Amino acid sequence: MEIIVSDSVEEMSRTAARLVARTLNSKPNAVLGLATGSTPLGLYKELVRMHQEEGLDFSQVTTFNLDEYVGLTRKHPQSYHYFMHENLFQHINIPKQNIYIPSGTTDNYEAFCSWYEQRIVECGGIDLQILGIGSDGHIAFNEPTSSLGSRTRIKTLAKQTIDDNARFFDDLAEDVPVYAITMGVGTILEAEKILLLANGASKAKAVAQAIEGPVTSMITASALQLHPDVMYIVDRPAASALTMSDYYEWIQTKMPDAP
Ligand code: F6R
Repeated sequence: MEIIVSDSVEEMSRTAARLVARTLNSKPNAVLGLATGSTPLGLYKELVRMHQEEGLDFSQVTTFNLDEYVGLTRKHPQSYHYFMHENLFQHINIPKQNIYIPSGTTDNYEAFCSWYEQRIVECGGIDLQILGIGSDGHIAFNEPTSSLGSRTRIKTLAKQTIDDNARFFDDLAEDVPVYAITMGVGTILEAEKILLLANGASKAKAVAQAIEGPVTSMITASALQLHPDVMYIVDRPAASALTMSDYYEWIQTKMPDAP
């Protein structure tokens, strides 16, 4: 596990974008796993800039998003379909048919979830999975006590997540959907490489528990300890509860090709 502590959210986003660009430069038809939420916004903005100003090419890229709210249509401003289109896809040259986002409005969730898992495999698996982390330690919408072997499925959101995400909805917590369709922890762990981003003091406890605590379904991000190639990029407030942060920063100064 590699832990990079950034001085700012902007630096965190630029470092993450360089890693994505490096992946695409070495494998132009890479499969990316993508997250929504506030955390990756700066990363997506930087990728758009790199596409527009430096020609970063997405023409052969395939993407799979982690999750979607159940019941929201793709045109709903709070849906993750809408989020991804607004913040990334409409600004880059990715072919529409290469974009996969779980459906929040299918009439057969079970069949959809199996199909989604199957498509990931048929596309060769995820080369680089981008993750955020919830303040309760969740990755995707794998809330506390989710099985660490879980696959894509419907999940009931935790009260904490509903409260955290209420800021995006008009009528606050009342409007936040209670269910989401989400990739499972087991699905995420099959990615070749995983990059988790976190910023802000509200993530400090979850980040520390995920990196330095025991592997437990109470903090589903802790399952990443079982993966051989995980990188965390966190800003200083998000790193503030880590007991070994001096060591992580010292390692970075010793690494000749740190991003
Ligand atoms: C979103 C997702 C969630 C978020 C997490 C953090 O696709 O999978 O796990 O990454 O809830 O959200 P933000 O970034 O808004 O703090």
